[in-house]
Amino acid sequence: MTASRLFVLEDMFKFNHIVMDPLVEVYSLPFLIPKILESPELVIAADAPGDRLIGFILGTRVEDATEFLRDGKHMSWSHGHISALAVAHDYRKQGLATRLLATVKDLMDRQRGFYVDLFVREKNTNAIGLYESLGYVKYRWMPQFYADDHGYEMRLPLSRDVDRKSLEGIMINKFFSFGSKLYYLLMLYIFGIASIIIGGKMVE
Ligand SMILES: CC(C)(COP(=O)(O)OP(=O)(O)OC[C@H]1O[C@@H](n2cnc3c(N)ncnc32)[C@H](O)[C@@H]1OP(=O)(O)O)[C@@H](O)C(=O)NCCC(=O)NCCS
Repeated sequence: MTASRLFVLEDMFKFNHIVMDPLVEVYSLPFLIPKILESPELVIAADAPGDRLIGFILGTRVEDATEFLRDGKHMSWSHGHISALAVAHDYRKQGLATRLLATVKDLMDRQRGFYVDLFVREKNTNAIGLYESLGYVKYRWMPQFYADDHGYEMRLPLSRDVDRKSLEGIMINKFFSFGSKLYYLLMLYIFGIASIIIGGKMVE
């Protein structure tokens, strides 16, 4: 049995066993603390019996982000952002992340946000599967977003976004992603050939 509650700064002394995972971005304290204090109601912790911290989600509220829409108009809208999500190894695959994500979604819905978004590594197929099972959509591909991986921005429209305007850019983004991937592969190919030629000359 697990219980959810608001995350408190003291939890940062207890969460190393959760965040020390190659798929969790280990942010610095100057990043984390302002985020936690910014929207404390969107930062939720989960405890196992004995008050052992076993999961947390760090949500923030982004006010009035301006975006250009297909019809040339632009809109300012508030949305939620998931900055971090992690569950302890021995509590995974039991629905805990699903519950934490649902809590933040409900809170953002009540705060009249348009959508929730997050960034995820391209290689993190488990997390992508989790988000897709909850209705998140890959909104755009982000080449080299991480030092060692590409990433995706994923979005979940909320009930205020009746016309799913927050997903309007998706076709243009797909087109752009396709072009970026081709360019990236071409560069890999050119640099691969170049390093073989240079390597061959050095051996001579
Ligand atoms: C990703 C993570 C948060 C998932 O937590 P969780 O509590 O195990 O997730 P849930 O139990 O709610 O999973 C729900 C669904 O997600 C998918 N999923 C989650 N983990 C999975 C795995 N290891 N393999 C395959 N599918 C997985 C499944 O569809 C699963 O549904 P199912 O159990 O009915 O098959 C957890 O594995 C984790 O902390 N990973 C490291 C950190 C990380 O990747 N954070 C996300 C960064 S963007």
